Amino acid sequence: MFAKIKPNTQIIGQNIVYFQRVDSTNTLALDLLKNKLSEHGTVVIADHQTSGRGQRNNEWASHPNENLTFSVVLEAVTNVKAHPFHLNKCITVGLHHFIQNALPNHSVKIKWPNDIYVNSKKIAGILIENNYLGQQLQASVAGIGLNVNQSFVNFSYLNATSFRDLQGFDYDRPLVFKLLLEALDNYFIRLENGDIERINSDFDSNLLGFGIETTFTGADGTENYIVKGCDNEGRLLLEKNGITKPYLHGELKQIIV
Ligand code: BTN
Repeated sequence: MFAKIKPNTQIIGQNIVYFQRVDSTNTLALDLLKNKLSEHGTVVIADHQTSGRGQRNNEWASHPNENLTFSVVLEAVTNVKAHPFHLNKCITVGLHHFIQNALPNHSVKIKWPNDIYVNSKKIAGILIENNYLGQQLQASVAGIGLNVNQSFVNFSYLNATSFRDLQGFDYDRPLVFKLLLEALDNYFIRLENGDIERINSDFDSNLLGFGIETTFTGADGTENYIVKGCDNEGRLLLEKNGITKPYLHGELKQIIV
């Protein structure tokens, strides 16, 4: 059913490759890319990933036929205003925008650098992997896992949620997939057109803890900071005692309450 979807997009999802079962759609998309079997915007989607991969070599486990697990192949953006980290921001704000629209009664947040949270629980994650020729970025694979119909209510240790858990009913996954591709495409076109300001402001203003005192732990212990945004290198900007400093991923851990 996913292969027949015709999203109203310019780039993302004009070509959709469906698998009932794969190890990881990111791995498969990277293989297609390396063998020149994909196009700009090709989407690889599977109903069942046997070895789904998450960030920092973690596993991404997702029940078969209940969620969305897919990857998008994207050639490197040529707009001079775009920095490499802007692809991460663009995919994150597209995903965030879609989820927030689908859940208007909930506050959907971006947990830096690219997780999507609702009510302090994770609903979606992103894994972007890059393909370089020498020093030159050629293309990226942006993998998305979105919890749709899987229930996590009896698995609180996972700290995860889904559309089903939040709304109490099952969603039409092909329709969710189509609308999500359209949201991602919308932001990707903005990126290609150099509308970096909109991508930056949508990213920053939806960050978990934006503009409010938030607790982080790091080498110096536990401290409160105000989240101010994220710079072009992807560093989180945190203010303490009126001074704003950039922090690298891994330097500090945000405490979710
Ligand atoms: C994370 O939050 O750790 C990132 C999760 C990314 C999961 C998606 S599911 C589709 C694609 N294929 C993978 O193996 N991983 C990504």
